[in-house]
Amino acid sequence: MARHSHDPRLPYFDALLESFEAGDMAVSEAFGHHVHWGYWDEEPDRAPTPGEFAAAAERLSREVWQAAGIRDGERVVDVGCGFGGTLASIDAHRGGVALTGLNIDHRQLLRAARMHAPSAGNTLAWLRADACALPFADASFDVVLAVECIFHFPDRRRFFAEAWRVLKPGGRLALSDFVPGRALLPAAVAAGFWPGSRGFYGKVDMRCTADRYARLAAEAGFLPLLDRDITRNTLPTYPFLRRLSPRLRELRLSAVAETLFAELASRLGFLRYRILAFRKPGD
Ligand SMILES: C[S@@+](CC[C@H](N)C(=O)[O-])C[C@H]1O[C@@H](n2cnc3c(N)ncnc32)[C@H](O)[C@@H]1O
Repeated sequence: MARHSHDPRLPYFDALLESFEAGDMAVSEAFGHHVHWGYWDEEPDRAPTPGEFAAAAERLSREVWQAAGIRDGERVVDVGCGFGGTLASIDAHRGGVALTGLNIDHRQLLRAARMHAPSAGNTLAWLRADACALPFADASFDVVLAVECIFHFPDRRRFFAEAWRVLKPGGRLALSDFVPGRALLPAAVAAGFWPGSRGFYGKVDMRCTADRYARLAAEAGFLPLLDRDITRNTLPTYPFLRRLSPRLRELRLSAVAETLFAELASRLGFLRYRILAFRKPGD
């Protein structure tokens, strides 16, 4: 089916939702809560099982939300929230928090709302919207999170401006992203023009270098809080994805090609997986 550029449905989410529907236990176990790379302290000597992958994905979520220093009683919005795994993780570890999950794809929000109920004393709400046009009043959150999703957004600059606007003075923005070194830029730009590159992951913009992030954040008015390169910790994700790819049927080729590009670039040091956090001045 032809897709319009503003179509919120990403091919890999179509594949995940179909697999859940078809009762594929391995895919449900691995990606039922979190849809992002995993985090390992040490590289295991074999490909992770679906359960081990899910545990590693939970660890990555925690690394990102802990980078924002979330405390009891705070108001948090997770943009591009997927199936709500990151908010469920915060809900399990913090009290008195008001949590909002925002996503452009309502199918993911329906699943998130079915799966997660807030713990006593916390609140959990789900909202369909574009992360670059946040439907919230100024200064309404302590924390904005964006876990492995900013590369899909139409415009990083607009997202930074929106995050700054909805944060209270002293509020924090934490995100994770694939950040290219300068040497990878031509390949990342070229990959954006190769039609096959949209086959599995959809529109992905991997052109934001560390320097550009620093400029975007400064232009929006943020102060840097943290910049962690966790590429090494995410590498076991790739053997796991390779093991799963035969289940993808017609999407298999593009999934393998696109994932291999990211794996080679990461193993060679041209593409870094980073956690970045920023603070809005004040308080
Ligand atoms: C790799 S998934 C990450 C999901 C979730 N953050 C997680 O870590 O499990 C990327 C997410 O970004 C969402 N997304 C893409 N473009 C968006 C936009 N413009 N506004 C809000 N969400 C968006 C997708 O629907 C998807 O849920």
